[in-house]
Amino acid sequence: MIEESSLRNAESLIRFGTEKLSSISDVPRLEAEVLLSNLLKINPIKFHTEDIGISPNVMDKFESMIESRFKGIPIAYLIGKKEFWSLSFEINSSVLVPRPETELLIENAIELLKDQESPKILELGTGSGIVSIVLHKELLSPEITATDISSEALYVAKNNAHKYRITDINFLVSDWFSEFKNEKYDLIISNPPYVDKTKLSNEELFSIGMEPDIALYSENDGTSDLEFIIRNSSMFLEHGGWLMLEHGYDQADYCMREMRTAGYSKIKKSKDIQDIPRTISGTFLNE
Ligand SMILES: C[S@@+](CC[C@H](N)C(=O)[O-])C[C@H]1O[C@@H](n2cnc3c(N)ncnc32)[C@H](O)[C@@H]1O
Repeated sequence: MIEESSLRNAESLIRFGTEKLSSISDVPRLEAEVLLSNLLKINPIKFHTEDIGISPNVMDKFESMIESRFKGIPIAYLIGKKEFWSLSFEINSSVLVPRPETELLIENAIELLKDQESPKILELGTGSGIVSIVLHKELLSPEITATDISSEALYVAKNNAHKYRITDINFLVSDWFSEFKNEKYDLIISNPPYVDKTKLSNEELFSIGMEPDIALYSENDGTSDLEFIIRNSSMFLEHGGWLMLEHGYDQADYCMREMRTAGYSKIKKSKDIQDIPRTISGTFLNE
């Protein structure tokens, strides 16, 4: 409990939050500032330039946010949004919190399709919609279908598309390819679940444990969904169409082998800024 008499301004509240979060975060003060600035709807810079008074109502809400954060709830769920690709996306506990690694997947897709008019794209497992929405903004009139097995996730993705006035992404509930028959795409893109839950440390479990299992975990060392997508995508690709996947830090060689076996060519791995292989792509030439 916060001692009410001791907290008359924002700085003392931030200090309380910083102390509480110091055992679970590397940047406790930053997190406390983000939470309080969102509650007060002010720019956090003001904490350093003004003495800001705090109402008992804000104090109670802040205390409960700090408690939730202390239990491992991601900041993005507490404030309901996350910056990605310099855009702000609505986020809730039905979707994965967007990760910076996924920008690499998008950069590769843009590089591949930047000169093509109306490329046909299928995104598998769209979650909050970040990949499809960014591609829609960056490419030339793309025709995008974005799927997810979770209708709750699709609800968030649709809200995000609406926020950016995008009305022509076809959002569809589908268990990978279950709703598809003869459609063909220039690009199938996915950041599927690829984490092996059994290998997570307690610290890792704490940091991602509140996100949906279905967005994170996959059987067989985290490779089941990657394998399924690699083995089944070629049926839905145009001649010379591309499959592009994000994968775990230690799954590049596995994906490379699977893609070779499935008949892909020009297979290419990409590394993130920490030099870790993160994405793989390959093209499929129909006989
Ligand atoms: C790692 S998250 C990626 C979310 C988002 N594309 C991103 O990059 O932030 C994986 C997504 O795949 C979805 N998913 C899991 N299993 C699926 C399945 N069998 N069919 C379709 N989508 C699935 C999850 O609901 C989740 O939204």
